[in-house]
Amino acid sequence: MLMNIAKTLKFRRDKRWPQGAIVYQIYPRSFFDSNADGIGDLPGITAKLKYLKDLGVGVIWLSPFYTSPMADFGYDIADYCDVDPIFGTLQDIDKLIKSAHSKGIKILVDLVPNHSSDEHEWFRQSRQTREGKYSDWYIWKDPKATDKSGKPVPPNNWLDIFTGETAWEWEPARQQFYLHSFDVKQPDLNWANPEVREAIKTAMRFWLDKGVDGFRVDAVRFMGKDPDFKDNPKNPLYKPGEGSNYNSIKHIYSQGWPSLYGYLNEMADVLKEKPYQKSLRFMVTESYPETSEPVNEYLEFYKGMDPKVAAPFNFEGLGLPWQAEPWRQFLAKFHTALDDYSPLCVASYAFGNHDQHRLATRLGDPAARSAAVLLLTLPGMAFIYNGEEIGMKNGKIPPSLIKDPAAKGGASRDPERTPLQWSSAKNAGFTTADTSWLPVNSDYQTDNIQLQTKDRYSYYRLYQSLAKLRNSSKALRKGQLSVINTGHQSVLGYLRTQGRQSHLTLINFSEVSVEIKLPDSIKIGRFQISSDAETKHKKTPNNHIQLLPYEAAVFKTKHK
Ligand code: GLC
Repeated sequence: MLMNIAKTLKFRRDKRWPQGAIVYQIYPRSFFDSNADGIGDLPGITAKLKYLKDLGVGVIWLSPFYTSPMADFGYDIADYCDVDPIFGTLQDIDKLIKSAHSKGIKILVDLVPNHSSDEHEWFRQSRQTREGKYSDWYIWKDPKATDKSGKPVPPNNWLDIFTGETAWEWEPARQQFYLHSFDVKQPDLNWANPEVREAIKTAMRFWLDKGVDGFRVDAVRFMGKDPDFKDNPKNPLYKPGEGSNYNSIKHIYSQGWPSLYGYLNEMADVLKEKPYQKSLRFMVTESYPETSEPVNEYLEFYKGMDPKVAAPFNFEGLGLPWQAEPWRQFLAKFHTALDDYSPLCVASYAFGNHDQHRLATRLGDPAARSAAVLLLTLPGMAFIYNGEEIGMKNGKIPPSLIKDPAAKGGASRDPERTPLQWSSAKNAGFTTADTSWLPVNSDYQTDNIQLQTKDRYSYYRLYQSLAKLRNSSKALRKGQLSVINTGHQSVLGYLRTQGRQSHLTLINFSEVSVEIKLPDSIKIGRFQISSDAETKHKKTPNNHIQLLPYEAAVFKTKHK
């Protein structure tokens, strides 16, 4: 009991809690179904908090659970301050927040500022007339012209990311087009309008008052648009018919306009308001780098927002090839740039999410296990997407069961959204309904949480040991990162150092086993964890070490 109180106090005192945090992303539809309707829900999450605590999770991020017609499975919000009945009630989210906090788990909720649902009251009114309170809350434009058949022509060539077709939809009542960067049922809000900004900030306060610890902020690049709405230039690299038509233009005017930083800063300011100062509230913004200079792009976000309360996602775990050299270069450049800019900057690494093919499918098992070691020994926030901790693979979805609106453009995200595999029971123990909203993966009888928690060689046990190590080591949570010279092209090595303690991570990116000799200045130290569950490294003479194909290993050293 006393120890628990001491632990809780320590947790509260840790003001910069994002630094070193393990964050678990929950896609509520697919996590756990408590009411047998085939769809996961909030009480289902509350019921499984112990599982997350045992895994070593300190923070959860909940993908949207708000009122929604589910055109984009919750990323189309019809009421920012209510819960969709599919997921439960406001009382259910209160219970979840309280229960998570009592276990020392923080909660980030998803915030979708760029667009609402077309069924939001704001849009229902906005689309009716050019007058009235909400008339300027969305992006309305007159047609550029009328074509020969008398049809209005969209104001510019901007495209919707899901279909690769025009992002403009004609509204007969207003005789104008509205813009939708995503689905036609997700009209873009007009961030240039201060009333819109206030409305989103009011929604933020609603959730902060409920006690959430912050937000994951959706699709922020799209909030900044060229005020002149110029045509995007053609993409000279695009070959018609190859990939989505969305790639036929470069989206330089429709997104990423610098006005977005001002908007994000206004949002970040809410987190610093008086009522929220007792414990740090934090937001992580979603924006995929667009250029070959991701470090500069990430830095623009750190500089554009206040790093004390905000950080951009770092998506190199999705973007970089699984090779030592690009990682070596990125880590050295990125962490030097962050340290130079401000000690407050928090890196924020995600190797998977509900929009990306599964990590274990992308890399294969041995490298995906190494990726777990990499993720959990890097600085900042480490995001684990639900299912990653058991090495879940992409599901195979028969065409008749496809749900994702993005599938229209040829890039369905359903495979990475299949229900979490809890056990070998019917529907992987996810639901007692006859069917789940997406089919469970066919491998659930051999790959599931129940089996993996008992198997010391499993993915689960690897994630759990890594989490335990990270949570108990100040050097891994807060330490500086320095890339070392391993003398081998395929082996990445870096130290995480705090005071007299260091951890050394070595990762062999190649498919063959390698032997390396580290410089005498580096002490390999005591072996702690290997991505290969059967391997234990013994002390080797002369700083030599042998790594298995795709093996990642962590060591610990004390300096004098
Ligand atoms: C983000 C979400 C994605 C959603 C889109 C539109 O990228 O992660 O799932 O479809 O924004 O809200």
